[in-house]
Amino acid sequence: MAADPILRFRRWLRDAERAGAPLCEAMALATATRDGVPSLRLVLLKQADPQGFVFFTDARSRKGRELRANPRAAATFHWNTMGRQVRVEGRVVELPGADADAYWATRPRGSQLSGATSFQSRALVSRAALVARRRAAERRFAGIAVPRPVDWRGFRLVPSSIEFWTHRDDRLHHRELFTRRGSAWRTALLEP
Ligand SMILES: Cc1cc2nc3c(=O)[nH]c(=O)nc-3n(C[C@H](O)[C@H](O)[C@H](O)COP(=O)(O)O)c2cc1C
Repeated sequence: MAADPILRFRRWLRDAERAGAPLCEAMALATATRDGVPSLRLVLLKQADPQGFVFFTDARSRKGRELRANPRAAATFHWNTMGRQVRVEGRVVELPGADADAYWATRPRGSQLSGATSFQSRALVSRAALVARRRAAERRFAGIAVPRPVDWRGFRLVPSSIEFWTHRDDRLHHRELFTRRGSAWRTALLEP
């Protein structure tokens, strides 16, 4: 039976953290419109377990709208210090509000205030307007907990494939692709 790619991923992430790789939990996340127009941005991985890869965002954002219309995504991690890259592809599920509540509660108050103020990816009239809204939120929530915006949500990328790439000399890199078959994983090597 093939090794468990989630365990391997967690080990690689830990290796990168220990090696002091900057922003090791940052992943490039690709989404697409219903008719396949792609878009890409960095988000932070908050959890990786046998169910998948979890990140949080504003569901009204461009990526959120794309995921609600076309719930598939691809993600890439790159740890240059380690000469390693991981690619993940699969479907995306939106997590229950309770999961977002739990993570929201751990965020610094400043991030909560900004999260409660911003409508991610919408056109902004002026920076001053954003700062004024943020100040208004500070006054509105003075002395009380900042509520999570209802659309600030967690999403899980449920992997159907995971590829581990390792740098080797002379561009003879090593690529190992795990593909999900029911509850098991198949592995194959890919040419570099
Ligand atoms: C290192 C890094 C980490 C980021 N993490 C997140 C994140 O976890 N969630 C998020 O919504 N945006 C995050 N962003 C901002 C996104 O890259 C992006 O600007 C934002 O989500 C809007 O993207 P969209 O318009 O494609 O939806 C991060 C940006 C950087 C550079």
